[in-house]
Amino acid sequence: MCGIVAALAARNVQGILLEGLKRLEYRGYDSAGMAVLNAAGELARQRAKGKVAALEEKLEQGALTGRIGIAHTRWATHGKPSEVNAHPHLARERLAIVHNGIIENFEPLKRELEADGVVFESETDTEVVAHLIDRAFRHRDSANQDGGETGDLLAAVRATLDRIDGAYALAVMHADAPREIVGARKGSPLVVGVGIDENFLASDALALLQVTDRFIYLQEGDVVRLSDVNGIEIFAADGQPAERPVHTYEHGDSAASRGEYRHFMLKEIHEQPAVIAATLEGRLSGSHVLESSFGVGARALFDQVKQVHIVACGTSYHAGMVARYWLEKLAGLPTQVEVASEYRYREVVVPENTLFVTLSQSGETADTLAALRYAKSRADSLDEHGGQGYLGTLAICNVPGSSLTRESDLALMTQAGPEIGVASTKAFTTQLVALMLLTLSLRKTRGDERETALVQALRGLPAVLDSALAMDGPIAQLSEAFAEKHHALFLGRGTQFPIALEGALKLKEISYIHAEAYPAGELKHGPLALVDADMPVVAVAPNDELLEKLKSNLQEVRARGGELFVFADEGVALTAADNLRVLHVPPVDELLAPIVYTLPLQLLSYHVAVLKGTDVDQPRNLAKSVTVE
Ligand code: G6P
Repeated sequence: MCGIVAALAARNVQGILLEGLKRLEYRGYDSAGMAVLNAAGELARQRAKGKVAALEEKLEQGALTGRIGIAHTRWATHGKPSEVNAHPHLARERLAIVHNGIIENFEPLKRELEADGVVFESETDTEVVAHLIDRAFRHRDSANQDGGETGDLLAAVRATLDRIDGAYALAVMHADAPREIVGARKGSPLVVGVGIDENFLASDALALLQVTDRFIYLQEGDVVRLSDVNGIEIFAADGQPAERPVHTYEHGDSAASRGEYRHFMLKEIHEQPAVIAATLEGRLSGSHVLESSFGVGARALFDQVKQVHIVACGTSYHAGMVARYWLEKLAGLPTQVEVASEYRYREVVVPENTLFVTLSQSGETADTLAALRYAKSRADSLDEHGGQGYLGTLAICNVPGSSLTRESDLALMTQAGPEIGVASTKAFTTQLVALMLLTLSLRKTRGDERETALVQALRGLPAVLDSALAMDGPIAQLSEAFAEKHHALFLGRGTQFPIALEGALKLKEISYIHAEAYPAGELKHGPLALVDADMPVVAVAPNDELLEKLKSNLQEVRARGGELFVFADEGVALTAADNLRVLHVPPVDELLAPIVYTLPLQLLSYHVAVLKGTDVDQPRNLAKSVTVE
């Protein structure tokens, strides 16, 4: 998705903005641009289609020099990826704006401006906002000539925000308000980077770690003004000045570098033992899950829970699917799991005492956030069928201060640290660990043998994952069998079905091979027709109670000449043969097996993508954090 960086400093800002854009590349984008106000009081701009490197080349030819500037990476929504549609957009060469999100009512506003004589340069919704703010600014300016107010950028932005519908984070500067940047957020994240005698805005704290580790996470509806005179001024949605806490970023800056690894994705796969240990830290005591893990008030709420609704998108949704098996088996709680984009538009019937859970790495995914708001809107009311509102809302999330955590009653933070690869890896497995903690906390019987055994297994999980990572070499070899294929099938049963789905998703995301996952029992109801020597079939087969059934499904594949790749526990009696390759996965408690089996599938998709030469960390058309619907 789009990214924003803005800087107001006493030094030249081109380098700060460019570095910020590079740090935002992981979010996925298709063009980039920058504008600064130069010493002559004029806006100078450079934009390029494609990667930030293309913009950098242009800046080498024509550097931008100024002590105030804004920059952007764009992920096309309105209008194709092109230089002309890239941000910043200008109005009369005096105002520059960068914007994330979508302005839903831009068409009538555009017509209004055109009737007023404005000629548009781009196809974007953003350019409409540029002209609206500029017009509001000038009207105030002319009022000033009449003895009225001064040209007030903050007031002009506010007046414009009143007219636009949709989601946005934006940053605006004006040549006639030369030492000010105004930012605003509604529906898309924006943070203020607090420096020493210099301040910044960005859509993601990571973009600014080279200049500060102190951040203010703006809240919904906040407008902020950075200026030399007053530093940082924040105004809440009601227009009143607001105090927002300054947070110190605690993950250090190492996340922004690949270190010894060729790709962020590989680094993040290898970080999993450590980040899972970090996610468990302080949450286990002796043989049970600490009551304080989910925050104040959680116990009283959990004691009343009779059902669970889980809502998420993408990889996070697959984590929710695993949790359904756990919650039903271990806690006896009926559980429904749904993708947020469907949930939010459905007439959901909420049974009595239902806990609403969202899962999200970023905490900013537009559909998940909208689903939470929809769930909350029903919290205290009976629906027309007599259904109740939700008992409470819980977010399992990886980004502190994100919208989802702020707007939920309870939050459990995963400790994956910043995830840069677009294809989610460590965020997923830490979500699974958090969901196991939730499952154990929601059980009515607590402190029994099952809990003790699982807590022990959780403690041992980082070591098991370390051994699973040792499969890297054999998996790299195996990947050769996939690189030339156009399709692949993934099979699993029970908790391993969502893992098969996740394995297939990883493969399509980064290697662009069409991959599908099926519960193994569904094989003969359709997908078996596709099986032949050109269709590799991956089966996830830990030594659990469904194994015998899975084995007969595998025979069905072999009988049709399909090439089989089985990830299985050492105890599984399967011998490699011509069209059957078996890879042994370290043994673990069967309930935690989905976490362990995820790693070899991540490694498989990684190595296939490397062989195919695709852009592993920034796959085409995809974005890290989808902040538009
Ligand atoms: C995008 C990302 C996925 C991610 C999904 C949900 O599609 O590319 O990796 O799983 O969004 O993101 P969230 O931040 O809500 O977990």
